[in-house]
Amino acid sequence: SFTPRVFSGIQPTNHLQLGNYLGAVKRFVQMQDEGMETIYCIVDLHAITASFQEPAKLRHATRELAAAYIASGLDPAKSILFNQSQVPQHTELGWIFNCVARMGWMNRMTQFKDKAGKNAEKASLGLYAYPSLMAADILAYHATHVPVGEDQKQHVELTRDIAAKFNHDYGVEFFPETQPIIEGAATRVMSLRDGTKKMSKSDPSDASRINLTDDADTIAKKIRKAKTDPEPLPETTDGLADRPEARNLVNIYAALAGTTRDAVIAEYGGAQFGTFKPALAELAVEKLAPISTEMSRLMDDPAEIDRILGEGAERAANVAEPIIAKTYDIVGF
Ligand code: ADP
Ligand code: NA
Repeated sequence: SFTPRVFSGIQPTNHLQLGNYLGAVKRFVQMQDEGMETIYCIVDLHAITASFQEPAKLRHATRELAAAYIASGLDPAKSILFNQSQVPQHTELGWIFNCVARMGWMNRMTQFKDKAGKNAEKASLGLYAYPSLMAADILAYHATHVPVGEDQKQHVELTRDIAAKFNHDYGVEFFPETQPIIEGAATRVMSLRDGTKKMSKSDPSDASRINLTDDADTIAKKIRKAKTDPEPLPETTDGLADRPEARNLVNIYAALAGTTRDAVIAEYGGAQFGTFKPALAELAVEKLAPISTEMSRLMDDPAEIDRILGEGAERAANVAEPIIAKTYDIVGF
């Protein structure tokens, strides 16, 4: 049996959006505060898979993501916080997993299909292999629990398949069966402009998402303009079933308030969006403004952020190094 250990990561592309915060970062902080051993990564190696990143922009986004983590309550003294490219064990194990994962498994990854679009011939090999590197990110630490949004469920399942095949092929019980932790009211926050698409930091439309860096006026305006149907909110939660936009705003409210959909409907059932949207905007500003203020304060001292990440990378490598050494030994290197 394996010691419970939490690992997760986010790509440093663009600004963090509300879905990343509610679906991932907020859970990261809760698990840290529950006293679990927590390792959180800025997955910059993944950030270059989908498209070319300007080096200066990538470096800035890396520091900004570190600032967002810390401003959201991630404490580098309690969690290991680092940058994937600084810990070579990720790519070392990633190569081995490229030789464990099967083409047929990779071909089933829906996120590759979404991100590659119609012209998969033009996608990078890295985008195709990314879930295998993600398995290495997780298993380099023997992580047992991975808090993620719903869109990452398939990749965590692939991680389990890779671990199982490695264990089977080499006749060992070396890698754990990692569990995805997908919990809460906001495991899949949808775009504010299109209730069928998930909110994403790489969506070309800035109005589709709330960024952690948005100021109060921008947040209020985006919520006011969010796409909705003309009906008031339903009197029961079941009434949200075929109303994706209304359901999304209720989910966001519940997650921000730290309550349930039922509790939000108990309070706002029957209300018009003219009432509910300003209440949601006020709540969003109340919860997000302190994070954004703290982020800018942290960003004033990039050297301090780099110091924290450097220290985190050393601590991460100390955990991963013996696991990769043992993996090499098992493989016969
Ligand atoms: P993005 O899709 O915004 O580029 P990432 O792929 O870097 O985000 O994902 C970082 C984390 O945020 C993952 O755990 C992912 O599941 C979660 N996440 C991303 N978008 C959403 C969303 N719309 N709702 C809930 N969680 C999300
Ligand atoms: Na994603």
